[in-house]
Amino acid sequence: MPNPFFKHDVLSMKDFSREELELLFLTSDKISEMKFKDRVSLGEGRIQGIMFFEPSTRTRLSFESAMASIGGTSIGFSETKTTSLEKGESFADTVRVVEANTDIIAMRHPMEGSARFASDVSSKPVISGGAGTEEHPTQGMLDLYTIQKEKGRIDGLRIGIVGDLKYGRTVYSLIYGLSKFDVNVDLVSPPTLKVRKEATLGLEKIRGSNNTIEIKEHEELKPLLPELDVIYMTRIQKERFPDEQEFEKVRGSYYIDAEDSKIMKRDAIVMHPLPRVDEIRPAFDNMPQARYFKQMQYGRTVRAALLSLILNP
Ligand code: NCD
Repeated sequence: MPNPFFKHDVLSMKDFSREELELLFLTSDKISEMKFKDRVSLGEGRIQGIMFFEPSTRTRLSFESAMASIGGTSIGFSETKTTSLEKGESFADTVRVVEANTDIIAMRHPMEGSARFASDVSSKPVISGGAGTEEHPTQGMLDLYTIQKEKGRIDGLRIGIVGDLKYGRTVYSLIYGLSKFDVNVDLVSPPTLKVRKEATLGLEKIRGSNNTIEIKEHEELKPLLPELDVIYMTRIQKERFPDEQEFEKVRGSYYIDAEDSKIMKRDAIVMHPLPRVDEIRPAFDNMPQARYFKQMQYGRTVRAALLSLILNP
């Protein structure tokens, strides 16, 4: 297959077919086996622009580390105080500055539509590292890769997605990604944090969707635990609540603790995009199903593969 990622933006999981995602996973496998001296040719002399308008630890470090791992460098900012935005420069002009000095842009912004807007301004490829509550496509890619690696397949699995399904952008990218596979998805949330209709309406219109995804909604987690192959926990997105009191009502709605390990399938996996607050108790970290730290490590590999595919024909 010709490389469909070359010079392309990464704005939504909806834009990638199953075959394209499988090519990304294969490339990730290859990259993780390559020696550094072979990997550096993939990104040598290339510069990644980092534009992060929102807090991030994992995603930014992982983009920078991924670029370094293929021989490239990264420049940019992770808070706006040191930029000319403070002097009144527009977002579009800021994108133009980064574009002029780099080969590819990785950006995170609190507004929905921000990454697409940047991609309209920039002639260089833009990768979204999270756009408001909308999507976080590279997280979706590394989530699917984690399932593939840790379970050996994605088809045929029963996957629970738990927590803040309304504001959690990783949830949307994950659902759009899973819709290209043959899976059962159980969505678990308080009634006020149910998934937004846009996630499930028109799934059949998503590129490469095979329509065998089956989605059910629940309010209780514990009865489902023995049934699930993948348990994807998420943080309640406090900062996105219009009202602090509304947050207080749902705070701590779901958590898993060490003893829940016993009622889960022995070969189930527990994932989380991280950061976690209290939804996975630290005591669970030593349980055989815990995979969230491994998931985080896969992030670097998948982003290195993605960068190398976008930068090289
Ligand atoms: C997530 C995000 O920023 O959307 N974090 C991440 O990138 N791994 C999840 C979150 O903040 O809860």
